[in-house]
Amino acid sequence: MRVITTVQEMRTACKQARRAAGEDSTLALIPTMGAIHQGHLSLVEAGRTECSLVAASIFVNPLQFGPTEDFARYPRTFDEDCKKLDSAGVDLLFAPEVQEMYPEGATTFVEVAGLSERLDGASRPGHFRGVATVVAKLLNIVAPDVAYFGQKDAAQVAVLQALVGELNLPVRIAVCPIFRESDGLALSSRNRYLTPDQRTQALALSRALRSIQDAIDRGETNSAALRAFAVAELEKAPGARTDYVEVVNPRTLLPVDSVRSGALIALAAWIGDTRLIDNLIVPPDRS
Ligand code: PAF
Repeated sequence: MRVITTVQEMRTACKQARRAAGEDSTLALIPTMGAIHQGHLSLVEAGRTECSLVAASIFVNPLQFGPTEDFARYPRTFDEDCKKLDSAGVDLLFAPEVQEMYPEGATTFVEVAGLSERLDGASRPGHFRGVATVVAKLLNIVAPDVAYFGQKDAAQVAVLQALVGELNLPVRIAVCPIFRESDGLALSSRNRYLTPDQRTQALALSRALRSIQDAIDRGETNSAALRAFAVAELEKAPGARTDYVEVVNPRTLLPVDSVRSGALIALAAWIGDTRLIDNLIVPPDRS
């Protein structure tokens, strides 16, 4: 795996790799902020399966963190990350410094209006402007055929699908399933912040989603009732504080009054100082 830190070198390396791999070659991009876990590696695996070349990026993007958020303490585990990405079959790793991505005086931002203020965007003002800006830059630098993201960040996926569609960017967004520990906890780089006790409390998120799925299986379709099941489940965990539980259309992120297959049920909760998210897409009616 070749590790590259400048925009110019990454652009050239991607072009050269494509040329060497042949006219029909395809390039995958897996954007990350590092602290690589099995969820990221499942995106790499999908990229490996579907494309001839795989690029990844590690960049803890200051623009997507609010002033009181965890930018400074976000886990930075570069050497370990490199080993994992290399063994997973990444060909090119882009790992720029902040100055390289945002040179002094940079004033251009990408804003997906509306969508960026919903779900996590409502709790984290400016977050999706930062995500959309950095992803637009990464797509322009790497020029992949397919960019891979995890379903866990469902609102991010909606924002990025709108970005790519509305700006006619020649790339497909591929969305990979949430990767869970055996007890249900969705993998997240922020799980590293949790103490053993908090990790137990964090299981309330997946339990809340399970309670919603069980209610749907029993025939409940009313969104307000379903949200109440999830909030009740979250409240049972003494260390958990609900941020939101929403039942929405996965493309628009607007609330729906009753669920049917394809609806997105998303939630966020604080476990101590750590904000975690999780979600489910209502599966096709199994009755
Ligand atoms: O999902 C993430 O890790 C980040 O939001 C992303 C897409 C790498 C942009 O910084």
